[in-house]
Amino acid sequence: MDSAYLIEVASMLLRWLHLIVGIAWIGSSFYFVWLDNSIKPPTDPKLREAGVGGELWAMHAGGFYNPQKYLVAPKELPKELHFFFWPSYSTWITGFLLISVLYYFQAATWMVDPAVAQISPTVSVLIGLGTLAGGWIVYDLLSRLLIERSQLVFAVIYTLFVGAVTWALMHLLAGRAAYIHVGAMIATTMSGNVFFIIIPNQRKLVAAMKRGEAPDPALGKKAKQRSVHNNYLTLPVLFSMISNHYAFTYSHAHGWLMLMLIMLSAVLIRHFFNLKHKGEWRWEYPIAGGLILLATLWWTAPAPVVRDTAKPVPTLSQVMPVVEARCAACHAEKPTMMPSAPGGVMLDTEARIRQHAQRIYARTTQTKDMPLGNVTNITEEERALITGWYLGGTK
Ligand code: HEC
Repeated sequence: MDSAYLIEVASMLLRWLHLIVGIAWIGSSFYFVWLDNSIKPPTDPKLREAGVGGELWAMHAGGFYNPQKYLVAPKELPKELHFFFWPSYSTWITGFLLISVLYYFQAATWMVDPAVAQISPTVSVLIGLGTLAGGWIVYDLLSRLLIERSQLVFAVIYTLFVGAVTWALMHLLAGRAAYIHVGAMIATTMSGNVFFIIIPNQRKLVAAMKRGEAPDPALGKKAKQRSVHNNYLTLPVLFSMISNHYAFTYSHAHGWLMLMLIMLSAVLIRHFFNLKHKGEWRWEYPIAGGLILLATLWWTAPAPVVRDTAKPVPTLSQVMPVVEARCAACHAEKPTMMPSAPGGVMLDTEARIRQHAQRIYARTTQTKDMPLGNVTNITEEERALITGWYLGGTK
C-alpha cells in the first residue's frame, strides 16, 4: 500500500481514537471537579461518624445517585475501588502517536517553515520532543517549590513560562506546529500529573490502608492540587488542539500573544464554572474572559485591503496560471505533493477556483500560510494579483 495513504489512514484512526478517549478523560475530570465543589457536609450523624466529609444527591437517566466523599479515607478499604487513569494515559498515547504521524514523520512539511527559521527537520523534531519533556520538568519543579506557598504566584510564573515557550516556538517552528506543541506540552504535563503524582499517591494511600496504617492526608491533598491544575488547563489545551483549522491565529505576526490571550480567557471562564459549582456566581470572570477574547480577535483582525483602482482588475485567465503553478501540486484531483487534495479543496479548473475564491483570498492574502511553507515559491506580485482579482469581483 502507498505510504502516503497509510499516513492518511493512521492519522484518521488515531485522531478519532484520541478524540474518544480525550472526551472520556475530560468528562470524568469535569465530573469529579463538579462533584467536589458541589458536595455539602452530611446531616446524618451516622455518615459523619463513618468519616464522610461531603455528599450530594443527583439524578441522571432516571436514577438517583448519592455520591459521598470521605475525609482522607473510609475506615475499611472497599473490595472494589475504581481508579481513573486509562482515559488520561490513552489520551496521551494516542496524542503522541498522532503528533508523530502528522508532524514528526513529515517534519519537512509541517514542522519547518523556512520563513520562520532555517532549521533541519531533525532539529525541529528534537525541539518538539524537548518541549514536551521540558514542559513537564519545569511545571513539576515550579509546583513543588511554589504550590504550598501561593497558588497565585505559581499561576503567574507558570503562565509566564508558557508564554516564553510559545514565543520561542513561534520563532523556531511553523506556526501551526508551534501552536500544537504548546497544547501538547500542557497536555503532557496534565498526563504527567496523573502518571507521576495522582495515581502513585492513590496507590500509597491504598497500600497504607492495607498495612493497617493511617493514610497520610498530605498524599490526597497533593493529588487534589494537581487535579485542580489539570482542570484549569483543559480548555486552553482544547483550543490549541483545534487551532490548526484557523490559520488566522497561528500565522499572525503576534501569534504567540494571541494564543496566550485566548488561553487566558479560557482559564477565566473555567474559573467561573468552578466557583459556580460552589454556589458563587462571579460574573466578572466570564465577562473579563469574553472581553479578552473579543478584544484579541478585534486587535488581530487583518487590516482591510483596498484594491488599487488605478490598475486594471486582474482576470481569472491571469490568476489561473498562478494557481496552477503554486497550488495545484497539492490542490488538484490528482495532486503530486499530497495523497489527496487537502480539505477537498481542488484548484485545477476555472470553475473550482471561482468556487473557492474567498478561501483562496483568505489563505494567500490575509493569513498568507498558503502555499504551505511556500514550497512552491509564490511571489508577492502573484499574491497581489490574486488579491486584485478577488476584490475586483472574481471576473
Ligand atoms: C504543499 C502543499 C500545498 C500547496 C502547494 C498549497 N496548499 Fe493549500 N493546503 C495544504 C494543506 C495540507 C491544507 C490543509 C491544512 C490547512 O487547512 O491548513 C491546505 C489547506 C488549504 C485551504 C483550506 C482548505 C479547507 O479545508 O478549508 C485553502 C483554501 C488552501 N489550502 C488554498 C491554497 C492555495 C490558494 C494555494 C496556492 C496559492 C495552496 N493552498 C497551496 C497544502 C498545500
